[in-house]
Amino acid sequence: MTTLLELDGLVAGYGPLTVLHEVSFSIEAGARSCLIGRNGVGKSTVLKSIMGLTDWRSGAVRWQGRDIARRSTVERARLGIGYVPQTRDIFPSLSVEENLIAGLRNRPVSAIQRAYQLFPRLKERRHNGGTQLSGGEQQMLSVARTLLGEPQLLLLDEPLEGLAPIICEELIAAFDVLSRDEGVAILLVEQKVQEALAFAQQAIVLDHGTVVHAGASAELLEDPAILDRYVSVTQVPVHDH
Ligand SMILES: Nc1ncnc2c1ncn2[C@@H]1O[C@H](COP(=O)(O)OP(=O)(O)OP(=O)(O)O)[C@@H](O)[C@H]1O
Ligand SMILES: [Mg+2]
Repeated sequence: MTTLLELDGLVAGYGPLTVLHEVSFSIEAGARSCLIGRNGVGKSTVLKSIMGLTDWRSGAVRWQGRDIARRSTVERARLGIGYVPQTRDIFPSLSVEENLIAGLRNRPVSAIQRAYQLFPRLKERRHNGGTQLSGGEQQMLSVARTLLGEPQLLLLDEPLEGLAPIICEELIAAFDVLSRDEGVAILLVEQKVQEALAFAQQAIVLDHGTVVHAGASAELLEDPAILDRYVSVTQVPVHDH
């Protein structure tokens, strides 16, 4: 197993605010991991810090052994880290296909067919505007656009948030294909803990900006004490429109 990404004592935050206190964990090539924890503990800040979107203070962010903590966001993306933010960054004024074209950069247009294979719903709606998409379709588009960069590691920030169970299943099935058939490593940040643990092999639990547990997801599923303590397991059903 080769280690793709390693955080080693990472301290980062926003301006004067330090959010992450010596966060350390690593992601192996092709592995499926999840990062869980309550609201506001710093999960999104971990992903943003991996992409260089926070104020770095100390510690290493290693990509295939090289420290990239001072590299720009664009450079990190080019190295093979794909990031799908919690905000579903799509261009609302552009159609599905135009959004994908905008994500192509120098890649051939045929790459879009691959995105449609993974998400047939996007193909059906390819001429719809970004605002005419359901929450689930927007999420699929956001993921599909990031995949055009052919990342080796995909960082997903609460992709299932606010989506109906059937749409969650479709997204998870697509992540499964990426992981199994294409060997893309996935770091999934999710509040839907059961879904996250069912998908991931490795679970990292964050609390107050520090890693409080890291280990096999299967072990954590059998340890309700840790889940009760650090993660809210109750879920409010939300419907996708
Ligand atoms: N851009 C920002 N500027 C200043 N503080 C921020 C910024 N973004 C987040 N924070 C603060 O950093 C802390 C961690 O936030 P973060 O968004 O990483 O949490 P989270 O675990 O992703 O929460 P959620 O589950 O609600 O998405 C919070 O106290 C938040 O207020
Ligand atoms: Mg967040």
